[in-house]
Amino acid sequence: MRLGSIILFVALCSFTAYYIYEPIPEEIEERWKLMLTNSFFRSLSHLADLSELLGLKDYMGVMYFITVVEKVVPVSDEHVQVTEERFDGVEVVLYQPKQWGSDSELRRAVIYLHGGGWCLGSSRMSPYDLLARKTVTELDAVVLSVEYRLAPAHHFPVPYEDVYRVVKHFLQKGVLAQYSVDPGRIAVSGDSAGGNLAAAVSQQLRKEHGQQIQLKAQALIYPVLQALDLNTPSYQQNQDMPILPRTLMVRFWSEYFTSDKALFRAMMANTHNNPESSSLLKFVNWSAFLPETYHREYNYSAPAVVQGVGGEAVGMEEPSRSFADPRASPLLVPDAALRSLPKAYIMTCEYDVLRDDGIMYVTRLRAAGVEVTHEHYDTGFHGALMFTVWPTDFLIARRMTDNYIKWLKENL
Ligand SMILES: *[C@@H]1O[C@H](CO)[C@@H](O)[C@H](O)[C@H]1NC(C)=O
Ligand SMILES: *[C@@H]1O[C@H](CO)[C@@H](O)[C@H](O)[C@H]1NC(C)=O
Repeated sequence: MRLGSIILFVALCSFTAYYIYEPIPEEIEERWKLMLTNSFFRSLSHLADLSELLGLKDYMGVMYFITVVEKVVPVSDEHVQVTEERFDGVEVVLYQPKQWGSDSELRRAVIYLHGGGWCLGSSRMSPYDLLARKTVTELDAVVLSVEYRLAPAHHFPVPYEDVYRVVKHFLQKGVLAQYSVDPGRIAVSGDSAGGNLAAAVSQQLRKEHGQQIQLKAQALIYPVLQALDLNTPSYQQNQDMPILPRTLMVRFWSEYFTSDKALFRAMMANTHNNPESSSLLKFVNWSAFLPETYHREYNYSAPAVVQGVGGEAVGMEEPSRSFADPRASPLLVPDAALRSLPKAYIMTCEYDVLRDDGIMYVTRLRAAGVEVTHEHYDTGFHGALMFTVWPTDFLIARRMTDNYIKWLKENL
C-alpha cells in the first residue's frame, strides 16, 4: 500500500515535470517561471482542443478564460480618473490625470489597443489597466483604451472598424477639447494584434485627405503585420516557443477571418496564397527586408500559390481576399503608402514568431523615409510586456515598460 502510494507519487511528479519542462533557450531570464506560466497556457489550450472536439465549447471560447481571470473593474484612484464611455457606439475605457496643470494646458493622448490575436483580451485586463495608469501618470496624458469587438463572434473587419470609429470620433476638435488634449500630440499604440490594428489605422488616416487632425506617433509592440508568409525565419525558429507557438498564431489569423477550418489547415501548411494575393508577396519577401543576421540558417523560398485555399475553394473567397487586405496585413502596401506615416516605435523580441513581421516593417518604413526607433530584445519572448502582475511578473516586462514609456515621453 505504502509502496503503491510512493510509486503513484513519483509517477505523478515525473508526469508533471515532463509536462512543465520544455526546452526554453538558456538566454531567456527566469526560465522556470516562464515554463510554469506556459504550462498553464498549454494546459488550457489542450482543454480547449478537447472541448471543441467534444462539441462543448469552441476553442477560443475556452481560451477566453485567460481574459476572464485577469479582468478587473477599472476604477479611479488618487492620480487617475477612470470612466467607461462609448465613442461612436464602441466601448472605451478613458483614463485621465487628476492633477490638472493650469486649466489652459493641453495634454498628450495615447489611444491603446490591447493584444490577444483579435480573439482574446480586453482593455479591462489588469496588465492593460496598469499600463494605462502608468502612461497617464508618467506622461500626464489621457489614455483611451478601446474595447473593440472580438473574433470569432465578430470576424474581420469588425475589430478593425471598431478601432477606426473610435479614432475618428476622438480626433475631432470638439472631442479633444472636452478632454483638454493637444491635437498635435496624439499617438496610437498596441501590442501584438493591437499593434496590427494600430499600424492599420495609422495608414488609413494618412490616406484621408479630409482628416485634419493626424496622429503624431505610432508605438507598435511586437506587432502582427502580415498573413501571407507564415514561414518566415522567426516563425520557423520559434514555432514551439512559450506563450505564442506557431499553431496558436495561425489559429488567431484564421479565426480573424473565418471559422471555416480549411483556412487554418492551409495557413498551417503555408499554402493559403492564391493568384490574387501572390502579387503582394514581394512586400513580405524576408530575404530582401530582413538584415542578414536575422536570416539565421534559413533559406528563402516564396510561399506556394494555390488556386483556391489549399485546394478547398468552396466558400473561401471572402477570407482569402481578407488576409491580403492591408487593413489586416499592413505590410502589404507599396512604399508610397508608407511615406509620411507618423514616426514609429517598433519593439521586437528574438523568441517570437512575429519578430520578422516587426523587423520587415522597420526596414520598409525606413526605406520610405519614416523615422523609426527599433528596440529589439535579445532575450525577449512574445507577450513579455504584459507580464507585470504577480505571480507571473517578469523582470523583462519592467524594462520593456520603462523603455516604451521613455520613448513616448521623448517623442510624443
Ligand atoms: C526576394 O528577394 C530577393 C532579394 O532581393 C530576390 O533575389 C528574390 O528574387 C525575391 N523573390 C521573390 C519571390 O520576390
Ligand atoms: C540553406 O542553404 C545552404 C546552402 O545551399 C545549405 O547549406 C543549408 O543547409 C540550407 N539551410 C536549410 C535550413 O535548409
